[in-house]
Amino acid sequence: MSADELASVFNAGAREFSRLSPSVWGPAGQALAFQLRLRPGEAVLDVCCGAGASAIPAAAAVGPTGLVHAVDLADDLLEQGRLVASDRALKNIEFVRADATEWEPPSSVPRRGYDALACSYGVFFLPHPNLALARLVRMLRPVARVGLTVWRRGALEQFASTYFDALTRHVPDARPSRAAALARFDTADALRSWLTGYGAASVEINELSNLLPATPELVWDMVLGGALRSSLLPLDADTVEAVRREFLGLLTERDIETVDAGTLVATAVVVR
Ligand SMILES: C[S@@+](CC[C@H](N)C(=O)[O-])C[C@H]1O[C@@H](n2cnc3c(N)ncnc32)[C@H](O)[C@@H]1O
Repeated sequence: MSADELASVFNAGAREFSRLSPSVWGPAGQALAFQLRLRPGEAVLDVCCGAGASAIPAAAAVGPTGLVHAVDLADDLLEQGRLVASDRALKNIEFVRADATEWEPPSSVPRRGYDALACSYGVFFLPHPNLALARLVRMLRPVARVGLTVWRRGALEQFASTYFDALTRHVPDARPSRAAALARFDTADALRSWLTGYGAASVEINELSNLLPATPELVWDMVLGGALRSSLLPLDADTVEAVRREFLGLLTERDIETVDAGTLVATAVVVR
């Protein structure tokens, strides 16, 4: 998907995305900000920030003398983030609509560079993750921290395969389009070797278990509030409804009662 397509998919799903914040995005974002060991006064770049699941806790951690630049393509998610920041009286966070692969740090960033880079559930959307990470690392200070979250191997598997079984009954040639991108980063070993390729040391990877009850509302929000939404774009409303019913029926038939949202939280120190 192009940047414009991603933006329109996430904008269209902003309502469902926000309903997933407490159970899905929020816990991982909190864990990431915590594991980055942010200190008061630090400057943080959060890319693919969505509505600020990791950027908001990062802003709370760096405090009024620090700053967070939170970058995403989807205006509607950024707006949700601005509202939360304003509710919490966080004035040190700026939500910016930009492509993370083209982002240029403004002059408000200290000359030494950002102290930390965060990216929660975002790296697999970047068309060339190696180039993107290398470029972003150049915006960091010579010794800085990098942190990301990704779906752990096996996470969302039953959920996604059941969804595609339902979808292919209506769209026979529908295929999971991002499986390879997700698989590239879904184990601790894969993440560790990817990060060490950028001169990362002190790699720390923790697994966040997150088994969610597969209620009809949650599973459908997970389709509409994320990238899977794009698979429904060519369909009319009646077919979308038929896919939804089929999907819920298959989940019941297969006795699937939970969605495994297991996540790896990886942080490292990068020395340039
Ligand atoms: C699954 S969401 C995660 C959002 C957020 N980090 C969170 O955990 O709630 C992925 C986000 O990546 C954003 N995204 C994808 N490609 C991007 C790019 N090239 N530049 C900026 N944002 C991007 C999407 O707009 C979407 O908001």
